[in-house]
Amino acid sequence: MSKHILSVDQFKDEDIFDLFNRTDDMLLNGSSYSSLRGKIVGMLFLEPSTRTMSSFAAAVKRLGGDTIGWSGTSHMSMAKGESLEDTIKTMSQYVDIIVLRHSEKGASARAAAVSDVPIINAGDGDGEHPTQALLDLYTIADERNTDKNRHILDQPTTPLTHRDIDGLKILFFGDNKYARTVNSLKKLLGFFEGISMMEENLYFEPESFTGENGGEPIVKQEWDKENFIINLSQADVVYITRLQKERWPTGWHCFSNSASANHYAKYKHINKYIAFNASDLKWLKKDAIILHPLPRTDEMNPEVDSDKRCKIWRQAKNGMFLRMALLKSLLS
Ligand code: CP
Repeated sequence: MSKHILSVDQFKDEDIFDLFNRTDDMLLNGSSYSSLRGKIVGMLFLEPSTRTMSSFAAAVKRLGGDTIGWSGTSHMSMAKGESLEDTIKTMSQYVDIIVLRHSEKGASARAAAVSDVPIINAGDGDGEHPTQALLDLYTIADERNTDKNRHILDQPTTPLTHRDIDGLKILFFGDNKYARTVNSLKKLLGFFEGISMMEENLYFEPESFTGENGGEPIVKQEWDKENFIINLSQADVVYITRLQKERWPTGWHCFSNSASANHYAKYKHINKYIAFNASDLKWLKKDAIILHPLPRTDEMNPEVDSDKRCKIWRQAKNGMFLRMALLKSLLS
């Protein structure tokens, strides 16, 4: 495995399953390890995060290490105009590894070019989110594996293999244009045989609001419920993502004045109209699973959470074990 973790492209087949075995080991034995004792992890989250930041921080602390870092730039010298490169070069004098989230695609590669320590890409704009894709794939393989101990006792006793992923039918439901988690997961699935990827594209952008027919959002015309039901009934995995408004070229500005309040109301209406909700569950196969990298907004109704096929919280928890495994192999 390379020193930096920038893209899923750098992973070889054997790296993926080695990491999954190590993740199983963390689930079983992680509390007895102190592999990061004496290590400091730099957490540089220049764009908001709940799961990635918390799970990395928890992973470090569970393995006996410590963290320093920043959320946002307002109290950093970047607010005075310091470059990302100088910030990274400086931090790399103090820490053993840097976990970086940034709003610009390619920011992690820029950081890696100057850093004296490994960089982990924790999400770079609409580029990639490699550790999320790895934990997503781990969750898929874990749920499809037939070892009963995994699911009843939470004690994986057989290693995950290609068989747990090959032949998968996955439906990407949401913003398949801007979601970096989708980008990375699609690339990872490229390693496997017989994968079928279906898409329900729910993204729309501000220009959709000013279409030719009186400003009706385009997505409403494109939404094909019948096709959605066919796709749902075939899927082994439904992978839902929210609309990534912060990636729109105009950002949130389209909603920021009173003239656009009507657009916002329409956006909320449509987002609810197309949301995945409990009435969609009847179309799903009995052994299908529902994943969402989170955060969610309106595209997935929380009423779905109580269905046993919904694995979003397990997915979030797996992220901590996988990040423990990754940090241990990079730092110890
Ligand atoms: N999945 C994910 O990246 O969530 P956060 O933005 O909360 O870290």
